[in-house]
Amino acid sequence: MYNNKPPPLQINPTLITPEQAVTIFASLISNVGSIEALGFFYWAISLPKFRYFMRLYIIPTSSFIESGNPERAHEVLRCLVRSFAEIGKLKDAVNIVIDMHNQGLPPSVHTLNYILRVVVDLGLVKLAEHVFEEMSKRGVSPNSCTFSTIIAAHCKAGSGISEVEQWLNAMFEKGYVLDNVECTLVVDHFCKMGFVGKVFGLFETMAEKGFPPNVINYTALVNGLSKRGSIKQAFEVLEEMVRKGWKPNVYTHTALIDGLCKKGWTEKAFRLFLKLVRSDTYKPNGHTYTAMISGYCKEHKLNRAEMLLMRMKEQGIVPNTNTYTTLIDGHCKTGNLVRAHELMDQMVKEGCTPNICTYNAIVDGMCKKGKVQDAYRLLQLGFGRGLSADRFTYTILISEYCRRYDTKQAIVLFTKMLKTGCQPDMHTYTTLISAFCKQKKMRDSEKLFEDSVQLGLVPTKHTYTSIICGYCRVGNTDAALKIFENMSKHGCVADSLTYGALISGLCKEFKLEKARELYNSMIDKGCSPCEVTRLTVAYEYCKKDDSASAMTVLDSLEKKHWIRTVNTLVRKLSSEGKVDIAALFFHKLLDKDPSPDHVTFAAFTTACYDNHKYSIASDLSERISGEIT
Ligand SMILES: *[C@@H]1O[C@H](CO)[C@@H](O)[C@H](O)[C@H]1NC(C)=O
Ligand SMILES: *[C@@H]1O[C@H](CO)[C@@H](O)[C@H](O)[C@H]1NC(C)=O
Repeated sequence: MYNNKPPPLQINPTLITPEQAVTIFASLISNVGSIEALGFFYWAISLPKFRYFMRLYIIPTSSFIESGNPERAHEVLRCLVRSFAEIGKLKDAVNIVIDMHNQGLPPSVHTLNYILRVVVDLGLVKLAEHVFEEMSKRGVSPNSCTFSTIIAAHCKAGSGISEVEQWLNAMFEKGYVLDNVECTLVVDHFCKMGFVGKVFGLFETMAEKGFPPNVINYTALVNGLSKRGSIKQAFEVLEEMVRKGWKPNVYTHTALIDGLCKKGWTEKAFRLFLKLVRSDTYKPNGHTYTAMISGYCKEHKLNRAEMLLMRMKEQGIVPNTNTYTTLIDGHCKTGNLVRAHELMDQMVKEGCTPNICTYNAIVDGMCKKGKVQDAYRLLQLGFGRGLSADRFTYTILISEYCRRYDTKQAIVLFTKMLKTGCQPDMHTYTTLISAFCKQKKMRDSEKLFEDSVQLGLVPTKHTYTSIICGYCRVGNTDAALKIFENMSKHGCVADSLTYGALISGLCKEFKLEKARELYNSMIDKGCSPCEVTRLTVAYEYCKKDDSASAMTVLDSLEKKHWIRTVNTLVRKLSSEGKVDIAALFFHKLLDKDPSPDHVTFAAFTTACYDNHKYSIASDLSERISGEIT
């Protein structure tokens, strides 16, 4: 019945099942032709109802294989990969594609590279390597695109330097070189991991091959250094490139301005910016203005940021979505939602379409102001305009649930995020882990932590500290200590918050010696204990009537901190009737600071009277009045 008719658009999709769609395809290909059949296929997979129906891909692939049309078969397979990636079933799709070899379809480098790009976009490095292995196993020769994609994946995933180097060498061996984009990624990655020397090594290797570093390579290095905050080195590279006869371009300068701004040296950045404005050859472009606007936003100098927006328009430079989003984010962070909305309207009027980052900025701002319902409404509007939530959108909404202690809804959203193929990052995991730890649900936190490490994500100091706090909260300092010992494996350095949590936890469990050991080691590492930590350790010793140890613990503090802590300690001891030991500390306090805090003094004397220790009180009063006169 479909003979001689281009059928697709005359079919009412609500009336047919996915299985019937497969039948229609089969009938089209055998009765009408492959072009029409393919047309139908594309129409069908544009509809969510059919898009995720596996047989709708398998049958066409098989038919094209049978009819000796491997190109078309590959085309269908690429669609399969894209569709199933959307619902978090990329791995299944990949396996099917690879298995098609057994069905008589030789693998193609084009399809495999396509898969790699999808895999890499989702940050799944391990799967990428699997695909690469399959490629070699099946005799498909990787091309420069293959290597570039995998190298880019490793850089984006923050893999180890040696891994990236291995791939680079494999690539060079085949006679391929990096292109601009990958060069920037690799250089960036090496800089980020602190291996600047390796960049120079790479430049040398390339120079030996007849490609000495050019402006683009140098600019990539300047950019990498600026981003990691090594501004001085960045300027040194700038000098070197000028010495070698290369003229820095506006991108080089923009990288420097961006770096200076990120470091908080906005005024220095602005001076460089003005130099560009005044020069004839290096006029700032849209990126430069945006970098500068971003710098001012970060310092909450929104007036100056707005001024720059005006100035750039006067110069005939058109602000883009990124420029507006930067400014909108700045306003949201300072709580000015009204201006943020105005800017969003304005950008639309100027033909600049807000992207998901723009929405994320405003939605985050709204959530922080408690306007969660409005935030959701705005998002719906964005989705209606064809945008889809990204990792940041999900993380913002998950954080919002976590803030309200609704971990159940947070997990619902998290699951949805995974299902839609949106890869969470460590920040997403940390948000959830921290929320579960606050609710003492350590099992759930552990599971999430394991999952994140399994995915190859790198836990941060914040992740570790949340877990350590959690274990201390449930009285399991053994587990907390074990986690603490693992921190350095991921390059995380404990801070006073981490130590504080651990020390308080240990004190609560009466493991005073271990607490003191940590207390000493944190001071050795140049990390100063906060007021609560100082007080907790000293107080625990006082409770055991070991005032000598308590004093030693406090000895290492600078005078101001010492005085503050001892004041608090005296009040605390007084309120608990430990007048003798409080008196000891009070005298020490007077040695260092002859005019005592009157609140501490009042608390102490009251405690003395309450405990009938009149002589202690009068001794002290005498000393004070003696010193005053
Ligand atoms: C330098 O840039 C060129 C493109 O201009 C690129 O082909 C080359 O691979 C880059 N060199 C390095 C070491 O990344
Ligand atoms: C510490 O790290 C090792 C491997 O790096 C792991 O096997 C162990 O389970 C970790 N310990 C804890 C408590 O997470």
